[in-house]
Amino acid sequence: MFQKEQKFIEEKIKEYCTANDIALAELKWQAIPFSGEWGFSTSFFQTAANEAKRGTGAKVPVPQKAQEIAEQVKGQLGSVDGISHIEAVKGYLNVYFKTSEYANRVVEEVLKNGAEFGRGEAKTETVMVEYAQPNTHHSFHIGHARNTILGEVLARLVEFAGYKTIRASYPGDLGLGVITVMWMYDKFYKGKEPAGVHERGQWLLKLYVEANQLLEKKENETPEQTAQREAYEAERREMYRKWDAGDEYVRELWRETREWSLEELREVLHMLDVKIDVWFYESEVDEPSKAIVDELIAKDIADDERPEGGAVIVKIDEKLGLTKEKYRTNVILRRDGTTLYLTKDLALAKEKFEKYHVDRSIYVVDVRQSLHLQQAFAILKLWGFPQAEKCYHLGYGFVSLPEGAMSSRKGRVVLFKEVADEAVKRVLSVEAEKSVDIPAEERQKIATQIGLGALIYSMLSVDNNKDIVFDINEALSFDGRTGPYIQNAHVRASSILKKATTKLQPAAFDYELTKQEIELIEQMSQFPQKVQQAAEEYRPLVMAMYAYDLANAFHSFYHAVPVLQNDDEKVKNARLRLVAAAKQVVANALRLLDIQAPEVM
Ligand code: ARG
Repeated sequence: MFQKEQKFIEEKIKEYCTANDIALAELKWQAIPFSGEWGFSTSFFQTAANEAKRGTGAKVPVPQKAQEIAEQVKGQLGSVDGISHIEAVKGYLNVYFKTSEYANRVVEEVLKNGAEFGRGEAKTETVMVEYAQPNTHHSFHIGHARNTILGEVLARLVEFAGYKTIRASYPGDLGLGVITVMWMYDKFYKGKEPAGVHERGQWLLKLYVEANQLLEKKENETPEQTAQREAYEAERREMYRKWDAGDEYVRELWRETREWSLEELREVLHMLDVKIDVWFYESEVDEPSKAIVDELIAKDIADDERPEGGAVIVKIDEKLGLTKEKYRTNVILRRDGTTLYLTKDLALAKEKFEKYHVDRSIYVVDVRQSLHLQQAFAILKLWGFPQAEKCYHLGYGFVSLPEGAMSSRKGRVVLFKEVADEAVKRVLSVEAEKSVDIPAEERQKIATQIGLGALIYSMLSVDNNKDIVFDINEALSFDGRTGPYIQNAHVRASSILKKATTKLQPAAFDYELTKQEIELIEQMSQFPQKVQQAAEEYRPLVMAMYAYDLANAFHSFYHAVPVLQNDDEKVKNARLRLVAAAKQVVANALRLLDIQAPEVM
C-alpha cells in the first residue's frame, strides 16, 4: 500500500550507497508488528557483512557498520510524504506511516477493488484440485461433505491467489461394492426405486446394507441357509464377470444405477455452489492403466513376476534406493490381469499432467489413504514426472455425530442432506419468531444461507487432519467460532450502511482513532497476505481463522464505536466508509470459504 514511498526510500538508499562506494545487498522489507503505529523496516546487516568481506575502509564490527549505514541513510532521507517518522535502530531502518494516511489507504484500496480486493498477481503454474469424488452406488454422507467443502475452498483460495485452477472430480464407479448394489437391485427391487433425486441416490445405500446381510456368513447357519447364501454369492460373482466381459445387460444396469448416484451428487454440488470442471471416472482409467503397466515394465520400474506365477510389482523402496522400508512393494497388475486402485491412480495422474498441463496436483482424500497416495507419488517420481514433487495430499479426518461413528456396511451413516435440512429448519424456526416482517420466501433463502454457512464453517474451522464431532447446536450458535457469527458481521455492517442518510464521501482519518478502529483496519489490511498464505500452505483453516478474527474485530468496533450517532460529520463519514470497507472484506473472506453473505438475518 506504500509501494510509492518504498520505491522512493529504496532509491535514496541506493544513491547513498553508490556515492559512498558501499556494495548494497538486496533490500528486503518487512512489516513491523503493529503496536499503535504501522510501518515497515529493512536491515543493513547483509550489506555490512559484505563490506567486511570486501575489507574496504576501517575494520568496524558488522553490527556497528549496519547501524552506521542505517543512520546515514536516515539522515539523507529527511522527511517523506505520508511517512510520520523514520528510525535507525540496531542496524535497521524503521519507517512509520502516518496513521491517518495508512487508514485511508487501506479503506480506499478495499473500496476501489471491491470483490477483487485481495486477489493475488497472476501466476504461471496451473493447479488442479481433485475433490468431491465419492464412490457411486453409495450415499453422500457428512464425511463426503467435509471433503467437498475443503476441496472447494482450497480451489477458491488458489484461484484467488492467482493460479490457473482446475476443479476435478474422480468418482469410484466400479468394484465389488458397486456390483453388490447392482445385484441386489436387479434381483429384488427392479423398477421399485423411489422417485426423488436425493431419495433415489440415498436408497442405494439401503440396498447395499441389505445385500451385505444376505451375503454375510452367520453363526449357526442351517444347511439351507448356507446353500442360499452361496447361491447368492455365485450370482454376484457371475454379475461381476459379466460386467468385466462387457455384457450389454449388466453394463446398462450399471449405467442406469450409476447415473442415480451422479444425479444426487450433482444436486449436492449445486447446493454447495460447486462447479466441477473435469470429471474423471475410475472406470475410464482402467484400460489406460493396463497400458501403463507395460510401460513401467519396459522402463524397469516394475518387475514382471507373471512368468513365475506372480503379479506385476513395483519395489518402490528398492528402486528409490531407500534402505529403510517406507513405501513398500506394491502390486500394480494382478496375476489375472486386473488392475488395482494404485494402477488407476497412475493413469489418472498421467492424464492430469499431460492433457491438462497440471503443475501442482492436489488430492483432497481421506487421511486413511495417505500411504496409498504417497506410493503413487513415489512411482510417478520414478517414472520421471517432475510434477511428482508438487503432488500434494490434503488429508482429512473422520466426521461423526455426538451419538457415535458411522459405518456404511451397517447403514449407520449421517446423510449430508438430512443434516443440512435440519440446520435450515432450525434456523427457520428461530427466524419465524424474530423477523416477522420478512416475507416467507426471503426468510427461507436467508435460513438456507445461515444453515449451510453454519455447517460449512464447522467443517473448516477444525484442522483438516483432526476428526470432527459435528454438533449442530454448537454450529448454529451466533457466538464463538461459527459461520453465523461471521455472517452477522456482514449483516450488522449492511444495516448501518442502510440507515445512513448521507452519501459516502472520501474520508480523512485525521482524528484520534479508537483502538477498535485501528484493530479493524489492521485486520482488513492483512487479507491479501492471508489469501497467499492459505493458498501456498494449502490450508483452508488459515482463511477460516482469519475470517473469525476479522468478524471479531468488527463486532468489537460495532459495540464500542458510535458510527451514526456522531455530531462530527467528518468522523461519521470516515466511520461509514470504514464500515463499507469492512463489509466488503468480510464478504470476500466468506466467499472464499464458500459461505453466503446475507444482508439481513
Ligand atoms: N473414490 C475414492 C473414495 O471414495 C476417493 C478417490 C480419491 N482420489 C484418488 N485419486 N485416488 O475413497
